[in-house]
Amino acid sequence: MASETRLSVNINKVATLRNARGENVPNLVQVALDCERFGAQGITVHPRPDERHVKKTDVIELSAVISTEFNIEGYPSKEFLELVKLVKPAQVTLVPDAPSAVTSNSGWDVVSNFVFLTGVVAQLKEYGIRTSIFVAPESEQVEAAAKTGSDRIELYTKPYAELFDVDPLKAVEPYRIASKYAGENGLGVNAGHDLNLQNLRFLKQHLPFLDEVSIGHALICDALYMGLQNTIMNYLQQLR
Ligand code: PXP
Repeated sequence: MASETRLSVNINKVATLRNARGENVPNLVQVALDCERFGAQGITVHPRPDERHVKKTDVIELSAVISTEFNIEGYPSKEFLELVKLVKPAQVTLVPDAPSAVTSNSGWDVVSNFVFLTGVVAQLKEYGIRTSIFVAPESEQVEAAAKTGSDRIELYTKPYAELFDVDPLKAVEPYRIASKYAGENGLGVNAGHDLNLQNLRFLKQHLPFLDEVSIGHALICDALYMGLQNTIMNYLQQLR
């Protein structure tokens, strides 16, 4: 079993709330620092070209103050690669979504994009940035991701979350297999999308390797009722 699974809090929703009024409430940088103070081991952002939640200036400001792991997700456009070269986060998670996507809604077809992704991974490594490729738990995709030279994969957990209420064991099985393959082949394993206080512990218990989970929507929603500190403590508890 993986010894520790780190919690990276995705703070996009906080930026969305702030942008609703065009001022600086809530203060994104302060929220990130508080997440760290409350025990989160990382902060994730997904700057999109239309800057509808996290903006480029946020990314630059955050990178100067975050003392845990900063993870930047995004489609590796020229602009995105320039931004991460500038701020040098601990990790970049490559996602395939179009700029207009509401949220990431699939993993990469790594097989079809193998040459492109291999090039991007090499470029990020040159910048000294750890790479993670967002994929579905399908063996051919995970195997191709390993061959790109990426340090990690991030397993797209929406299908797990959807089936979890109906048949949790069936839901987790492809993820268990993908995690095992990745771990045994030197590829780190992250997971994210639609993870919450109901389905997180079960995932953690069934994956032989799980380095990090990245959680945004449910965690920020829970914080409305439980407060940010209590919520983060609850999520950390699920990972122990
Ligand atoms: N991982 C990736 C690649 C994502 O795009 C997102 C959503 O921004 C997440 C994880 C977090 O998903 P959620 O907000 O459902 O927790």
